[in-house]
Amino acid sequence: MRKPIIAGNWKMNKTAKEARDFAEAVKNNIPSNDKVDAVIGSPALFLSDLMTISEGSDLKVAAQNCYFEESGAFTGEISPAALADLGVQYVIIGHSERREYFHETDEDINKKAKAIIKYDMTPILCCGESLETYEAGETAEWIKAQITAGLAGLTPEQVSEMVIAYEPIWAIGTGKSADANIADEICGVVRQTVADLYSDEVAQKVRIQYGGSVKPENIAEYMAKENVDGALVGGASLQADSFLALLEALN
Ligand code: PGA
Repeated sequence: MRKPIIAGNWKMNKTAKEARDFAEAVKNNIPSNDKVDAVIGSPALFLSDLMTISEGSDLKVAAQNCYFEESGAFTGEISPAALADLGVQYVIIGHSERREYFHETDEDINKKAKAIIKYDMTPILCCGESLETYEAGETAEWIKAQITAGLAGLTPEQVSEMVIAYEPIWAIGTGKSADANIADEICGVVRQTVADLYSDEVAQKVRIQYGGSVKPENIAEYMAKENVDGALVGGASLQADSFLALLEALN
């Protein structure tokens, strides 16, 4: 039985005070953690504060990115070692915004996945197609290629423990969420790709999220689907009451 995981992705939002206020408001109000993993993906600048505030609570913390090198002359980058040292549990990698605006390739993302796992953190590996690819009916091929490249060289055990997020680019921040049946179908393509690359056993263990305009009002529709194990949520994760409502919808 896969444990659902709801992860907020704040993107480039909030000040340090707003991040602290959010964590204080949320940390003691997470519905029972045996039912769902509750994660907030914060800008790196606030991670230290969030780790301190969330200590001993059920709120888990994700970075939105990291570099794949151990250390060195990479101005502006953040190492997996530094994140692990803070106690960060998850790192979001390969978000479509990073692929598009910061030119991240599947190869970069694969190196990041390996570096994150090396430091005992869990990658949340994002994949997703553009509207053009979707309308051309090429989504399944696109997703298979992204997943195959993103997981290259990882062991079955490593893949079993990770999280993959399917986020159609046309549904991100647009208010135009993918129908729950489409989300289920493409999360199923991700799962089948893992089965083909590894085994059915690994595919049954890996957790797969849907992301793209998920809100408290529609999350239950996605979670009812067989292949959807959680959600990666941008806009609706920014306010404490909305984030808690997402978690409560699963109770
Ligand atoms: P959204 O963003 O929920 O605001 O559509 C999702 C994401 O980009 O992770």
